[in-house]
Amino acid sequence: MRVWVTAAILSLQASLSQATDVPGAVTPSDFPPQDAELVRLGRDLFHDPVLSAGGTLACASCHAPARGAPVPPLARDTPSLVNLGAYDRGVLYRDGRLTADPDAPFGLRLPGGAVLDRPLPSVLAAQAYSALDRGIDAHAGRPAAPGSAAATTARIAALPAYAEGFASVTGPRPLAPADIAMALAAYVTESFRAIDSPFDAYLRGDRAALTEEQIRGMELFYGPAGCSTCHAGPFQTDQGFHAIGVPPRPGAEADPGRYGVTGLEEDRYRFRTPSLRNVAFTGPYGHNGAYGSLRAMVTHHLDPMAALTSYSGPDSGSGVHRVRLDSAPGTGDARLPIAGAIELAPVSLTTAEVDDLLAFLFALTDTGALTPAGGAPDQLPSGLSLGPLR
Ligand code: HEC
Ligand code: HEC
Repeated sequence: MRVWVTAAILSLQASLSQATDVPGAVTPSDFPPQDAELVRLGRDLFHDPVLSAGGTLACASCHAPARGAPVPPLARDTPSLVNLGAYDRGVLYRDGRLTADPDAPFGLRLPGGAVLDRPLPSVLAAQAYSALDRGIDAHAGRPAAPGSAAATTARIAALPAYAEGFASVTGPRPLAPADIAMALAAYVTESFRAIDSPFDAYLRGDRAALTEEQIRGMELFYGPAGCSTCHAGPFQTDQGFHAIGVPPRPGAEADPGRYGVTGLEEDRYRFRTPSLRNVAFTGPYGHNGAYGSLRAMVTHHLDPMAALTSYSGPDSGSGVHRVRLDSAPGTGDARLPIAGAIELAPVSLTTAEVDDLLAFLFALTDTGALTPAGGAPDQLPSGLSLGPLR
């Protein structure tokens, strides 16, 4: 009898959680409003190599959706910035080294234990502030270039178009690094927004916005495939950290992930659950771009151990087969501890079900958000031009 009651409660909970797992629709009110002039200044700064000490690297060199592959490749794949400005988003970087945290000074925990000396309104503003301070190379995992936030600020303050633009927002006072950070954050918040996908239309009540295949995929995603245990909420992320066994790229060291921030053994090889908005266009996939195709990334999740052990490179297909780790070519040794940390349970899905899941992931695409709203500036206040990333 007791067993039966427990089973009934569990199944009730399961159907309840299944129903509540599908999130409510996202609206513009989920994002803080931004000052239009600050957004315009942020757009120029985002594209302007004046931000880097060498005058060659801009945020857009890596974060523009139409970028080419950075040379040399970065250890961590450059993340998409869409929807990071929503009130709800509080964990930045793949290892979460910048977070909103009520226990930290001004509610923001910064990389490397840095402490803010004044309040900033959002994790994005704190991120830009910290990137100015430590250098944008360092923030992308490249060797730090010489320079400082003060030097960068002075270079920008010396350009009349920026000086006048900022004066119209802040009044006549010297430009501070925080002003630059606020402008960059305002631009990212306003222009990198993907909340108008077929899935959003469906959530807003347009039941014809998704195909039957996509609806089946959605039901799998928020149901038996278990995706929404981690890819939860309106942006498909619990903003938590999980070890799912994404392999190191051939010849590369294993990235310890969250462990590098907390030093806790249990955090080894854990990475932040990424948002899946526009995921059809954010490849390559995984923290290091281990997989070139969305299908291979999804297939990885179904049997992470098999995918990890049979991995041969970014073109690794979806037809994974299990091989012995100690006989695996290349990075076999680097994979052993990653395998031991995997906390993602295998799921058995048919090929047709995987197709449905992929169809649903495509329904998360807001085509209007594939390039940032407002486009790139025709001309930069510095007169520099945005060359290819070196
Ligand atoms: C050389 C390439 C490069 C440049 C230039 C660059 N970034 Fe990044 N950015 C990255 C990489 C790589 C990461 C991920 C690092 C990690 O997770 O450890 C990242 C992470 C971020 C994040 C956190 C994203 C997330 O999903 O949590 C934000 C926000 C960001 N960058 C904004 C900027 C801004 C603003 C600039 C210009 C001031 C900039 N980036 C310049 C490569 C770059
Ligand atoms: C245990 C938590 C967990 C579950 C369950 C889970 N994922 Fe993930 N997923 C992650 C984490 C963590 C990553 C990032 C791994 C990394 O960066 O190496 C990820 C990455 C992804 C990516 C790549 C996104 C990108 O931009 O690189 C896709 C696509 C994805 N998951 C889809 C799914 C699907 C579909 C399901 C259900 C079959 C699922 N996930 C179930 C935790 C999970």
